[in-house]
Amino acid sequence: MKLFTLTSFIFFFYFTFLLLLSHGDSATESSRPPFACDTANPITKTLPFCNMQLPITMRVWDLISRLTLDEKIDQLVNTAAAIPRLGIPAYEWWQEALHGVSSAGPGIRFNGTINATTSFPQVILTAATFDYPLWYRIAKVIGIEARGVYNSGQAKGMTYWSPNVNLYRDPRWGRGQETPGEDPFVAGKYAEAFVKGLQGDSLEGGMLGEQLQASACCKHLTAYDLENWNGVIRQNFNAKVTQQDLADTFQPPFKACVEKGKATCVMCAFNSVNGVPDCVNTDLLTNVARKQWNLQGYIASDCDSVSLLYDTQEYAQSPEDAVADALNAGMDLDCGTYVKDHGKKAVEQKKLAVGQIDRALINLFTIRMRLGLFDGDPTTRPYGEIGADQVCSQDHQNLAIDVARNGMVLLKNSEKLLPLPKENISLAVIGPNAYDWVVSLGDYAQPPCVDFTPLQAFQSYVNDTVYHKGCDSVNCTVAKIDEVVEIAKKVDYVVLVMGLDQSIETEQLDRVDLVLPGKQQELIDSVANAAKKPVVLVLLTGGPVDITSAKNNPKIGGILWAGYPGGGGSIAIANIIFGDHNPGGRLPVTWYPQSYTKYPLTDMRMRPEPISGYPGRTYRFYRGPKVYEFGYGLSYSTYSYEIISVTQNKFNFSVPFSVKKFEKLDSAPYWVVSDLGEDICKAMSFTITVGVTNHGDMAGKHSVLVFVRKENPRNGDPIKQLAGFASVNINAGEKVEVELELNPCERFSSANEEGQIVLEEGPYVLLVEDLQYHINVPV
Ligand SMILES: *[C@@H]1O[C@H](CO)[C@@H](O)[C@H](O)[C@H]1NC(C)=O
Ligand SMILES: *[C@@H]1O[C@H](CO)[C@@H](O)[C@H](O)[C@H]1NC(C)=O
Ligand SMILES: *[C@@H]1O[C@H](CO)[C@@H](O)[C@H](O)[C@H]1NC(C)=O
Ligand SMILES: *[C@@H]1O[C@H](CO)[C@@H](O)[C@H](O)[C@H]1NC(C)=O
Ligand SMILES: *[C@@H]1O[C@H](CO)[C@@H](O)[C@H](O)[C@H]1NC(C)=O
Ligand SMILES: *[C@@H]1O[C@H](CO)[C@@H](O)[C@H](O)[C@H]1NC(C)=O
Repeated sequence: MKLFTLTSFIFFFYFTFLLLLSHGDSATESSRPPFACDTANPITKTLPFCNMQLPITMRVWDLISRLTLDEKIDQLVNTAAAIPRLGIPAYEWWQEALHGVSSAGPGIRFNGTINATTSFPQVILTAATFDYPLWYRIAKVIGIEARGVYNSGQAKGMTYWSPNVNLYRDPRWGRGQETPGEDPFVAGKYAEAFVKGLQGDSLEGGMLGEQLQASACCKHLTAYDLENWNGVIRQNFNAKVTQQDLADTFQPPFKACVEKGKATCVMCAFNSVNGVPDCVNTDLLTNVARKQWNLQGYIASDCDSVSLLYDTQEYAQSPEDAVADALNAGMDLDCGTYVKDHGKKAVEQKKLAVGQIDRALINLFTIRMRLGLFDGDPTTRPYGEIGADQVCSQDHQNLAIDVARNGMVLLKNSEKLLPLPKENISLAVIGPNAYDWVVSLGDYAQPPCVDFTPLQAFQSYVNDTVYHKGCDSVNCTVAKIDEVVEIAKKVDYVVLVMGLDQSIETEQLDRVDLVLPGKQQELIDSVANAAKKPVVLVLLTGGPVDITSAKNNPKIGGILWAGYPGGGGSIAIANIIFGDHNPGGRLPVTWYPQSYTKYPLTDMRMRPEPISGYPGRTYRFYRGPKVYEFGYGLSYSTYSYEIISVTQNKFNFSVPFSVKKFEKLDSAPYWVVSDLGEDICKAMSFTITVGVTNHGDMAGKHSVLVFVRKENPRNGDPIKQLAGFASVNINAGEKVEVELELNPCERFSSANEEGQIVLEEGPYVLLVEDLQYHINVPV
């Protein structure tokens, strides 16, 4: 393909440049990464905390025992001070790597040898691949690049505050783009894969030893998914959450992130839950995250959360109380300066014990040591060989484009309008999002290794391409409708590249509407009316939009949701439009109609309330009208399915009488999942084998989603929920078998009103596309 030649061409020059730079003599001294225990330093040579033969617990104790109270307090903030007398450099805890090593935190600067990193698609698009091993590979690459940036002296730390695994509860949320979507199981699997990849574990897990490639952080605990809506801002939002919703919707992604992913950090959120700010919630931080989930790492506050307790939320009586409340609840690190400014006074006022400070320091220094930052020059240690040449490598670039291609969701393709012919056509590309590569990045971005615009990608296929922006901006307050209509009349094909950008949805900015902004819809309809053939609509958005009108308009033949596809993502769009890639992404969120905005964003309830007409949220609970369903997505192929086998009926299983079975009038008999324990749950697990045949004439990547529902659902039960998913490559005409292991304790269970995860006895139905399979639990 033409474009790849162009890519290689650019890479050639890029690396020639890097080579010249790294051979110059300017960069060497300033590009040393910060580390402690320099073997060349006579002061630290003999200190026990520098002795790599000793266990980390002993080294950490030795270090802490040498610190004065002032020195200790200075370590409890994101920009931790140097301790020169002990040879310890300053450390920055705040780095970001949501979808690539980012310059969004203060610790990374792209002003040296490395001026860009691989820009993966924004997470919501990555989630649409439903491909767990792919998620892992992305994070692994990000971890490698993080080391490359660090080793080159352009990072002040190796602790990353990613992933964001808050559930995407409402389509208006400005940061929904950063998340893996609305399903708690998918979000949990994404969290697990991301953390394992970034930290250096294996895909299957269990390989993570003491050493960390990088440290990941599960954020923002908990029930945080509102920025700024109708005068309510995240810093003082009190989320009213039922125990039931907390247990089976808001918490599961975090539980998986810590328990299965083994994340070494959790960040507490700005907001309160049921009146208690998350960062002072002892039950949440200490009982749940640290004890129940067994967090081996540190708990960070979101930035300035501690100061807010006194300054904004009026929760604490004084700054010292705010500091003491947070540390006493289990928070270890203040993103901000409040603990540094008021910590000593809190100790003097006996609100904060030095023992709590030492506990925080243990959690913090343990992670710095596990990252190898107290072992002398890290470039001579494990991960030390990763150099600048691995950042933006061709392999990493190709992976990013591949993710973008596989995430994009084909929403409409009437009369097989797509793919478009590559030859002998004239093409008009219209829309503000075609001409700006920055839109493709989404938030928490960085300079990408390559930065094609969608227009450039289309031009690489069709020389005879005319372009018009159509709107003044994505907000589209001014539209040149007459001009674009004239263009549309003259060409064979029209592709409109519309949607949203960070001026419409981002951190600190929720949407009020679900429809396309300003005059976009009017422009799309006018162009579609004027064009010779049905037009193609490409949407760059994070969150869902109400495009009912485009969906129903026969003059709009194809619709592709492209998320924010990352630096190389424009290539992916063109690859799909011209048939060099068969789309297979599926929506990770429900697309609601505009009428959904009549329910307040502040209403946290997942479950519907029939009396008031409140419809509930996400595919698990919402029965109202939808523009597109969770899991929806077309392909250039058609697929058929068969359920080949379910191992469950091959054996008989009964739950031992020693496990209490609860009998209540308003539900089937049930067990509390934690009473069942791992062994029984494992014994109940079974395998479903699904056959999938590709009837198209292109190979395709296809995700199989298996849902489960109760045969007799009651109030509060999900309509259905995802039980398993896997993504497979299927050649044209080929049939493949997909095996999914399902654990009823995890996948058939849901929370009762007390917030217990329970498994009901009785008949369930497995749903695979339009197939149903009846199944009994426990047998
Ligand atoms: C890059 O920026 C950082 C932070 O502003 C600065 O300390 C450093 O000296 C800069 N490096 C170069 C090579 O300009
Ligand atoms: C495109 O046009 C050229 C020149 O008219 C012709 O030789 C070629 O066969 C055409 N290609 C297709 C795919 O129609
Ligand atoms: C990075 O440096 C290369 C080589 O000089 C240059 O071509 C590229 O534009 C730079 N990228 C950014 C994002 O500054
Ligand atoms: C592309 O179009 C330009 C003019 O728009 C023309 O000069 C050039 O020859 C064309 N290239 C090809 C390969 O058709
Ligand atoms: C977008 O347009 C609306 C009017 O349609 C206006 O109220 C709003 O301020 C604009 N937003 C931006 C970011 O320009
Ligand atoms: C399972 O139990 C049923 C009913 O008790 C019995 O008919 C069946 O043979 C058993 N199956 C196996 C594989 O043991």
